[in-house]
Amino acid sequence: MTHPFPELLRNNAALVEAALTAMMPAAGDTQLSEAMRYAVLNGGKRLRGFLALESARLFHVPDSQSLRVAAAIECVHAYSLVHDDLPCMDDDALRRGKPTVHVKWDEATAVLVGDALQTLAFKFLADAETSPSAEVRLALISRLAAAAGADGMVLGQVQDIAAETAAAPLNLSQITELQANKTGALIEWSAISGAVLAQSDTAPLKNYAGALGLAFQIQDDILDVEGDSKAAGKRLNKDADAGKATFVSLLGLEAAKIRAKSLVEEASDMLSPYGEGAAALRQVAQYVISRDR
Ligand code: IPE
Ligand code: IPE
Ligand code: MG
Ligand code: MG
Ligand code: MG
Repeated sequence: MTHPFPELLRNNAALVEAALTAMMPAAGDTQLSEAMRYAVLNGGKRLRGFLALESARLFHVPDSQSLRVAAAIECVHAYSLVHDDLPCMDDDALRRGKPTVHVKWDEATAVLVGDALQTLAFKFLADAETSPSAEVRLALISRLAAAAGADGMVLGQVQDIAAETAAAPLNLSQITELQANKTGALIEWSAISGAVLAQSDTAPLKNYAGALGLAFQIQDDILDVEGDSKAAGKRLNKDADAGKATFVSLLGLEAAKIRAKSLVEEASDMLSPYGEGAAALRQVAQYVISRDR
């Protein structure tokens, strides 16, 4: 059964949304649980969830398992956004079209929501429903710890903040490294998760995700310059003023677009071992650079 891509994107997002809605702590419990639900269940694109679902489908791993993986990565991603928006980081008041957590509540709540979402993700993965194999669960957990932590996303955020006040603009290889950490690491974990669940070779998906993650962040940087804030649901035209190191700041808009396009071709080529079975992953790569939000 094949679906047109926009329908697949919508269906997968709805599956991820439903899994998250069921797995998050109930809203009425505490202010913290209400704020956690607010941070997660607020209309993200669910790209990382899509990658988890589709990479698992490549290996015929059931959605019941990969949806738990999708929920975990969307929680870590939501945590990273809540902290990214804090006044001490990017200082943003709007996220996914709504007030950021620290604006709606306060900074302490935003810090703690992020902390709690991160540990909740590991709880999801540790549960036997994620995989009957403890070895597989451990592999997902240790790989996520590496991708999210001081050698992955957190390192990228440190490099992003440091670049704002660097004496000289970052060069191409420094920006590539920054972005691979900041955005690429969680995207890579999502894309290889199906192979990890299936105890299969992760190399082709890792190569795919490396190119995809860079293309994704280039499009984020392009949207910051020429996107529509209402569509994106966040403040735009902020990177240049903040002195952010981006492909757009280094190469200019047109060259950044060409680079993103060639990265998407590279990403698609990396899927050749899977043949037509990887059509959804090829299509999502195209979507990543044509999206307006
Ligand atoms: C935004 O990520 C932050 C970056 C890593 C560039 P997304 O664009 O995937 O955000 P949501 O989840 O759809 O809101
Ligand atoms: C955010 O990158 C990356 C992480 C949260 C890890 P950006 O700062 O560019 O994301 P936006 O533009 O605020 O969504
Ligand atoms: Mg940032
Ligand atoms: Mg930001
Ligand atoms: Mg951005």
